[in-house]
Amino acid sequence: MHSDIPVIAIDGPSASGKGTVAALVAKALGFHYLDSGALYRLTALAAQRSGVAWDDEAALAELALHLDVRFVEGEIYLQNVCVSDEVRTENCGIGASRVAALPVVRTALLARQHAFRQAPGLVADGRDMGSVVFPDAVLKVFLTATAEERAQRRYKQLMEKGISANLINLLDDLRERDARDSARAVAPLKQEKDAVLLDTTQIGINDAVDFVLKNFKLASGAQVESN
Ligand code: DC
Repeated sequence: MHSDIPVIAIDGPSASGKGTVAALVAKALGFHYLDSGALYRLTALAAQRSGVAWDDEAALAELALHLDVRFVEGEIYLQNVCVSDEVRTENCGIGASRVAALPVVRTALLARQHAFRQAPGLVADGRDMGSVVFPDAVLKVFLTATAEERAQRRYKQLMEKGISANLINLLDDLRERDARDSARAVAPLKQEKDAVLLDTTQIGINDAVDFVLKNFKLASGAQVESN
């Protein structure tokens, strides 16, 4: 139905920088942006707030289906309350990884993700954007970095926000989450055959954005100003 609206799918592990890259690519192209991880984080947060356990499939599916969420100018609102900082906490990340392993939750969030596909285009980041949600994406990127580098970045981010953190614990959490996201039966985290690999361990944000814009131009033949 929306197949004429181009999608750039950017998948990869936690803290790989895919959110930052995806948002900047969307801005450069004037495209919409979907942070699909936020939907899983919001489901975990909404569950916690209403006393629903992170493994209660039926209740979680119901919650996910009726999430009262709005994305406005980079901020996230749950039931009209801004939760942008709260959804990014490690607690919500761990909860997101748990609820995301449940097929009923993934199915409940599917239509909501498809609804982001609006003209002139969409940049979507997550784990299964290219494999499940937007298999016809014009460009699929698998964006990654070593676990050590990702833990360092997360550590720096938290320090900058004045949130205390322990690098070893962050690395352990990331590895645990990578393992859970990669091992799950449904929509596991993995590089698809038709996805281009972008390893950002040694490169900065601007180079990563440039790489995606150039590949999009190649893939779509679009006249894109890549700066
Ligand atoms: O990208 P993120 O760290 O915000 O994602 C949080 C969790 O949600 C992550 O552990 C895996 C899950 N997730 C998913 O399963 N599928 C997606 N498309 C996006 C996120």
